[in-house]
Amino acid sequence: MPLNIAIDGPAGAGKSTMAKLVAAKMGIVYLDTGAMYRGIACYALSSGASPEKSEEVIPLLDGVKMDISYADGVQKVIINGEDVTPYIREHKISMAASTISKIPEVRLKLVELQREIASHTDCVLDGRDIGSYVLPDADVKIYLDARPEVRATRRLDELKAKGTAGELTYEEILADIVARDYQDTHRDFAPLKVAYGATVIDTSDMTVEEVAEAVTELCEKAGYRA
Ligand code: DC
Repeated sequence: MPLNIAIDGPAGAGKSTMAKLVAAKMGIVYLDTGAMYRGIACYALSSGASPEKSEEVIPLLDGVKMDISYADGVQKVIINGEDVTPYIREHKISMAASTISKIPEVRLKLVELQREIASHTDCVLDGRDIGSYVLPDADVKIYLDARPEVRATRRLDELKAKGTAGELTYEEILADIVARDYQDTHRDFAPLKVAYGATVIDTSDMTVEEVAEAVTELCEKAGYRA
C-alpha cells in the first residue's frame, strides 16, 4: 500500500512549505491539490465562464483532461496538453479557485484524479478536504492552522519575494484570506474542517523548522522514517 500523508488547513497556514519539506525528506511525491482547483479556475476564466456560475462551468468539465506531471520535482498542471502552471498563482485566481471549488461536479472530477494518483504513489497531499473526504484513511492526517493576520503577512512576504505583490496591500490580502476561509469552510460539499483523527498544529508562533520537526515526529510515530 502506498504511503499517503494528508496536510489540510486554510490558506497561508504553511501547508505547501511543509508538504514540500516532508516530501523531499522522505523522497516521496508532493501533490498540491489546490493547484488543480486553480487550474480549473484558469481554464474556466479563459473559456469565458464565471467561476460562480455552475451552469457555465459544469458543461466545460467533460472537455477537460487534466494531467499532473513533475519536472525537476516541481509539479505542473497540464490541461488538454497545455501547461497552465505559469498562470495559476496569480492573485485573482486564488478567489476564483475557492469559488469554483464549491461546485460538486468540479470537486468530484478532481477528487477522482487525486485518489487515483494516491492509490499508486507514496505522496504528501495538501489541500482542504484530503483527510476528511479524499483520503479519510490516510496514514498521517495533519491540520495546520494560524491566525489570519499571520497568514496574511506570510502571503504578502511570499508575493514580495516572488516580485508579484504589485499594488496589493496587507489589508487586501487579509480581507481575501478571511473571505476565502469563510467560503472554504461554509460550502456544502466537503468543506474545510479538521478531519477525524487529524492532529492540529497552530503554526502562528512557530518557525518553519519547529513545524517541520512536529510534522516529522507525527510521521515517525506512524511508523515512517525519513
Ligand atoms: O491551497 P490553495 O490556496 O492553492 O487552494 C486554492 C483554493 O482551492 C482554495 O481556496 C479552496 C480550493 N481547494 C479545495 O477546495 N480543496 C482542496 N483540496 C484544495 C484547494
